[in-house]
Amino acid sequence: MNQITENTTPAVADASPASNGAAKEWQPKILAFCCNWCTYAGADLAGLNRMEYPADIRLLRVPCSGRVNPQYVLKAYQNGVDGVLVCGCHPGDCHYATGNYYAKRRMLVYKRLLEYLGLEPDRFIVRWISGSEAGKFRDTVIEATERIRELGPLSNDLPHLAPEDIPHPISAKFEWLATPKNAREGL
Ligand code: FES
Repeated sequence: MNQITENTTPAVADASPASNGAAKEWQPKILAFCCNWCTYAGADLAGLNRMEYPADIRLLRVPCSGRVNPQYVLKAYQNGVDGVLVCGCHPGDCHYATGNYYAKRRMLVYKRLLEYLGLEPDRFIVRWISGSEAGKFRDTVIEATERIRELGPLSNDLPHLAPEDIPHPISAKFEWLATPKNAREGL
């Protein structure tokens, strides 16, 4: 399992089918961004308790769900991941107080942006899982895998958008949603 950094994310997220041999029977590839303080601990606990869940998931430990830049998610899809899961502490429990509130707003917007780009929104899942919720982690992985299996491989040829290429009306229209209410009050 790898810790995310500014420079390594695109490379870590690379899971293109071509690199794993396209001739094999299709298995979904799901990338899970897990907050270090809660969900990652929950995943660890699931392992310690020998809980079984599908092996189609790759965990990527991040300091906080608020650290998941939407560009990382887009990059993952561009590199052949079939589904993305973002997991963090429950609202109110974020180790950095408000990181998951930022994440929540940002991911709601991002789901709509992915839809705009032609991607099924069900390929993108956000869940809050604490360090003691090993069972919830296992169930979430099972749910995500079943959902992606139903949708099938990602067939959409996503455009390789640079941040500045994201359509201006979209970013301008939704930007306010990514700003927490108390920060907006001063605007
Ligand atoms: Fe877990 Fe912020 S530290 S979501």
